[in-house]
Amino acid sequence: MTEEQNLREKGQRRIEWAKSRMPVLSSIAQRWRSETPLQGIRIAACLHVTTETANLVLTLKDGGAEVVLTASNPLSTQDDVVAALNQVYGVKTYARRGVDSQTYYGHIRHALEMQPQITMDDGADLVNLLHSERRDLIPGVLAGTEETTTGVIRLKAMEKDGVLAYPIIAVNDALTKHMFDNRYGTGQSTIDGILRATNQLIAGSVFVVAGYGWCGRGVAQRARGMGANVIVVETDPLRALEAVMDGYRVTAMPEAAREGDIFVTVTGNINVIDRQHLLLMKDGAILANAGHFNVEINIKALAEMASSRQTVRENVEEFRLGDGQRLYVIGEGRLVNLAAAEGHPAHVMDMSFANQALTCEWLIRGKPSLEKKVYPVPAEIDALVARLKLESMGIKLQELTPEQKDYLASYSLGTE
Ligand SMILES: NC(=O)c1ccc[n+]([C@@H]2O[C@H](COP(=O)([O-])OP(=O)(O)OC[C@H]3O[C@@H](n4cnc5c(N)ncnc54)[C@H](O)[C@@H]3O)[C@@H](O)[C@H]2O)c1
Repeated sequence: MTEEQNLREKGQRRIEWAKSRMPVLSSIAQRWRSETPLQGIRIAACLHVTTETANLVLTLKDGGAEVVLTASNPLSTQDDVVAALNQVYGVKTYARRGVDSQTYYGHIRHALEMQPQITMDDGADLVNLLHSERRDLIPGVLAGTEETTTGVIRLKAMEKDGVLAYPIIAVNDALTKHMFDNRYGTGQSTIDGILRATNQLIAGSVFVVAGYGWCGRGVAQRARGMGANVIVVETDPLRALEAVMDGYRVTAMPEAAREGDIFVTVTGNINVIDRQHLLLMKDGAILANAGHFNVEINIKALAEMASSRQTVRENVEEFRLGDGQRLYVIGEGRLVNLAAAEGHPAHVMDMSFANQALTCEWLIRGKPSLEKKVYPVPAEIDALVARLKLESMGIKLQELTPEQKDYLASYSLGTE
């Protein structure tokens, strides 16, 4: 068997494995095969090219859509999935792991050639390119969806400046997305990435988590579960207070920098670990980022300060500073869970991608009249995804009795 055949068969087997752990998405695909609600709709998807994403695009295809897929990060692509999608499933996929920035954007440009009616983005790079270079395509776009917090922030900034040219649904903001994907998905897969890259013992280590949002809560919780002493760094007083009451030590980065053995940034912000913090770190400290862009750790400053830089393990670079201090960066400071592991488990992506799929159906079937704004996922879709997920897990809900429904809707009854 050739290397290429091996690769596509491996991809196919892994896509099937993920499918068996995505019952909600599979039930949508099954319904769509007869209803084909997306018949003839052109969708350009810019998402991490993983086994779970493969199942989303195959579901969209089952719904009748024509789909092209391009990567949303140069290091998150799984090449076996690309091979299987292109050669087994017939989905045009433009992606290769480890491409440079020029090729990365070149792939997005290729994807846009299909003249999408719906854009599906993770981080808003595709939307950005469409708005800057391919404005000629904008009249043909009905709407878009956005998968992650950073993308939603960028799109809301575009809306505020009056430059967003078509409506986008913030899939990230669905409760059945960020409460589970960001928290439990990022929590588990970030630790997975650090372990696969370093094989470091977490127990007894000082583990610094910068950002106590949906993702940061998950990372802190999982690191504590493995026996780490977790320090949280936050800029928002409410979230810092929440971390304190959740039992974590909370402090500012200059203090945390001196103590940490392992650092994870997950803020969506820039230079959260900056030049002055790097200089304070212990010899041997490990740095990883789980936020969307590779700007949270100032790697440029680290490279400038380093007297040498070498790859010491797969996905781990050592930077040696002037006084002999060695700092280790995982996956070039890109999303560690995708660069050094496989991303979120299928079980949790099942809900995120069910939201993506059902939102597309709502956009096409429901024909909602939308302005050039960022909109939430309809609450009914969120509730349906939660119900379907519970059903797939065989978990029963207590239904409200008619008396209880009346009681909750009235104001006449008080203290008895
Ligand atoms: N790795 C993944 O697979 C994955 C999955 C989902 C989201 N994300 C990304 O992770 C990032 C965080 O997402 P989220 O949903 O947790 O966002 P969030 O808004 O819920 O949380 C971010 C937190 O970071 C804090 N913060 C901002 N600047 C900071 C700084 N300088 N120092 C310390 N804290 C700071 C904010 O106050 C906020 O509490 C985003 O970039 C998002 O796109 C990654």
